[in-house]
Amino acid sequence: MSKPRVFITRRILENGMKLIQDFCEADIWPEELPPSRQAILDHVHGMDGLLCLLTDQIDSDIMDAAGARLKVISSYSVGIDNVDVAAASAHGIAVGNTPGVLTDATADLAFALLLAAGRRVLEGERLVKSGGWKTWGPSFMLGADLAGTKLGIVGFGRIGRAVARRAVGFGMHIIFSDPSRSAPEPGVNATQVDFDTLLREADFVSLHTPLTTETRGLINAGTLGRMKVTAVLVNTSRGPVVDQRALYEALVSKCIFAAALDVTVPEPLPVEDPLLTLDNCLIVPHIASASWRTRAQMSLMAAENLIAGLKGERLPNCANPEVYGM
Ligand code: GLV
Repeated sequence: MSKPRVFITRRILENGMKLIQDFCEADIWPEELPPSRQAILDHVHGMDGLLCLLTDQIDSDIMDAAGARLKVISSYSVGIDNVDVAAASAHGIAVGNTPGVLTDATADLAFALLLAAGRRVLEGERLVKSGGWKTWGPSFMLGADLAGTKLGIVGFGRIGRAVARRAVGFGMHIIFSDPSRSAPEPGVNATQVDFDTLLREADFVSLHTPLTTETRGLINAGTLGRMKVTAVLVNTSRGPVVDQRALYEALVSKCIFAAALDVTVPEPLPVEDPLLTLDNCLIVPHIASASWRTRAQMSLMAAENLIAGLKGERLPNCANPEVYGM
């Protein structure tokens, strides 16, 4: 019997690749940069499965171009805002993602950004390297305290709660807002508040929401204006949750103290972007899940989702379980 055929939009780590190549005939995009939309449309034709990355926009036209054989779209990510999940369900296509395994890595990076932006770590390093370090001074490079201050977590899912656990160790008080939850997880000492209270009270605001129509532009001129002037904003969720023009204005006018972003609009962020001119804005290139173990686990999960879908089995991690009731 011939093997199922799949298009893989980038080579993932070898443990996942091996599973896929043992079970399927795989067309693997060989380049470091993502395939263009046209290349995806061309390569997906006649495929049984598609494994994509968060850099690939997978919409209804791509599903149509694949044709009736396409049974599964496996995204090598936890966020699936790059896939039109409703269209996939309408096409009867199961969508897989990789939740859970990147929780700790993402929470670690959120915390690294929080500390680095609050304590001006990169600004300090730039000063040292440029010869600007003149002396130790009583008010030289002052930054934010952690112990005794309030961390506001927007979105209290797996990653938000993992950030909360880290904050406890730093002696922070935790408040969170999340319209989809009615109570914190047992064992996490956090107080639920409404979003406005969080903005008003938090010394650090860390974003952990998925990108939806409700969260797009959630941090904008209005919401930034309600934050403390000493506040530090951390975004490891999705770039469009923050209005970057408004953030630039807020950082220049010292309406908030600092920001640290793992995600931007667009990605990659062009070197000419005004945010990159600011000392109080730290930006890293969407690396929250980029640890050895995490990426290997994601690779395995993405491969297992793909193969389950090809076998006509329920995906171990399915983002559109409604597809099975259709
Ligand atoms: C990373 O941003 C992911 O969604 O996996």
